[in-house]
Amino acid sequence: MDVLNSLRLLSVLLTSQLLSLSNGTGPSASLECPIEITPDRMVVRYQSRGLRPAICTLTPADYTHLKEMYWQVGQGDTTDGMSWFADTDRDWDPRPVCIATFSVIGTCQKPLNFTLYKTPDSVSIRPVVGSSSAVEQREFQLQCDITSVAPAANVAVRWYRGNETFEPLRRGPLRVTGCQPENDTTCDPRDVRSPLNVSSTISITLNRTDDGAEFSCEAQLDLGPEGPLPPPNMMSSPFNVTVYYKPVINTTKLPKTIPVFRGYPEELVCEAEGQPAPKIQWLYSSDVVPRESGDTLFVSDAGVYNCSASNQVDSIYHEVNVILKEDYLPLIAGFVAVTVVAISIVFLFIYSIYYKNTKMRRYSLKNPKVDTPSSNVAHNGCDMQFPMTKLS
Ligand SMILES: *[C@@H]1O[C@H](CO)[C@@H](O)[C@H](O)[C@H]1NC(C)=O
Ligand SMILES: *[C@@H]1O[C@H](CO)[C@@H](O)[C@H](O)[C@H]1NC(C)=O
Ligand SMILES: *[C@@H]1O[C@H](CO)[C@@H](O)[C@H](O)[C@H]1NC(C)=O
Ligand SMILES: *[C@@H]1O[C@H](CO)[C@@H](O)[C@H](O)[C@H]1NC(C)=O
Ligand SMILES: *[C@@H]1O[C@H](CO)[C@@H](O)[C@H](O)[C@H]1NC(C)=O
Ligand SMILES: *[C@@H]1O[C@H](CO)[C@@H](O)[C@H](O)[C@H]1NC(C)=O
Ligand SMILES: *[C@@H]1O[C@H](CO)[C@@H](O)[C@H](O)[C@H]1NC(C)=O
Ligand SMILES: *[C@@H]1O[C@H](CO)[C@@H](O)[C@H](O)[C@H]1NC(C)=O
Repeated sequence: MDVLNSLRLLSVLLTSQLLSLSNGTGPSASLECPIEITPDRMVVRYQSRGLRPAICTLTPADYTHLKEMYWQVGQGDTTDGMSWFADTDRDWDPRPVCIATFSVIGTCQKPLNFTLYKTPDSVSIRPVVGSSSAVEQREFQLQCDITSVAPAANVAVRWYRGNETFEPLRRGPLRVTGCQPENDTTCDPRDVRSPLNVSSTISITLNRTDDGAEFSCEAQLDLGPEGPLPPPNMMSSPFNVTVYYKPVINTTKLPKTIPVFRGYPEELVCEAEGQPAPKIQWLYSSDVVPRESGDTLFVSDAGVYNCSASNQVDSIYHEVNVILKEDYLPLIAGFVAVTVVAISIVFLFIYSIYYKNTKMRRYSLKNPKVDTPSSNVAHNGCDMQFPMTKLS
């Protein structure tokens, strides 16, 4: 029996040694240390009021061997008693630990999983410096700036196009600034619980159909099931993207080769589409003198006319070869007119001869009353066959 008792005592001593060595953070400690904290995780909003304390108790509720029990906060501040009240105004990283000392097993402790969170002051979206305008098919970078949020490690950034989320081509790591009073150079958001400025950068490629699209970003604080539900989030105001693209000349109005008839100037219309609106310029050799009016050129000389359209993105050109054509239409028309006139003259001539003949005959017929043989003789002697009396 004595041997058994001493063995039991030894095992208790060993356990207490292990507990104090492991400092209450190892799995063996949480198994063996009879401390229980209610609630075991606290998620508290910055500057919230009327909070309930975290309470440290023993399970099973056997306080006979307990010598003392207290809360330790930070690097040594202690508060006696079982309750701990969070300071929601200042204390971003208290790391509260409940410590209990027992007469037999010694000291053991248990930390409280505590998070003081702060929703951002502002969330804004902007293009990354150096890519102020989006160019079609070129990488474009957008940045989401979230100011004064805590804890930065729990921030998740979501991106929206219109009202729908999208996963960008590439997503940079979350960057934080303002690790005060800690060193800025070694700023790991996982180590800093105080409010930080967080920024997230993404890369996307756009095309002309995206012109005018609205992009926005949203910061969400994911604090786990013990945190507020739904998780607090904040949306930026939208950013209207303008997509630049190179000019395209509408060649349906501008064939490669255009014939021009002498004396009839041809209209060359150079129309180009692009963003920003391209500048149109006609180039031609100095010996031709077309009339220029805006994007339209009135040409009457043969030559190469070069329309160039340029904007910030690119510059393109389209050459038009104007060839001179002799115009045979007036010649043909003249020929036709002359022919018509000639034929008319011929017909008139023939008709006038015929008409003259008929007239003379009628005169002779209208004089039958005289009825002299002499007059009959004057008419070829064939008058006798006509019934002259009826005609008169
Ligand atoms: C605190 O609780 C959260 C959510 O349950 C968990 O993700 C985190 O690891 C815990 N922190 C520690 C130090 O145990
Ligand atoms: C986005 O808005 C359009 C119309 O405004 C609506 O039809 C669509 O369902 C919305 N999408 C989401 C994901 O809310
Ligand atoms: C966070 O950003 C805001 C706005 O840009 C600025 O006024 C503030 O000083 C920044 N804070 C830190 C800690 O960098
Ligand atoms: C900043 O870092 C330097 C050297 O890395 C160190 O000496 C100094 O104490 C640090 N300051 C703070 C506020 O942590
Ligand atoms: C332009 O981009 C949208 C969305 O990114 C895509 O659906 C569409 O097919 C693209 N159009 C062209 C012509 O590439
Ligand atoms: C963005 O575009 C919408 C319409 O698509 C317009 O109502 C809004 O004023 C624009 N915002 C800016 C900042 O130009
Ligand atoms: C080119 O011009 C024609 C005539 O105005 C028009 O029908 C056509 O849509 C234009 N093409 C393009 C690509 O703009
Ligand atoms: C037309 O202009 C472009 C530049 O504007 C030039 O590269 C090209 O050689 C010109 N073509 C002719 C035939 O001059």
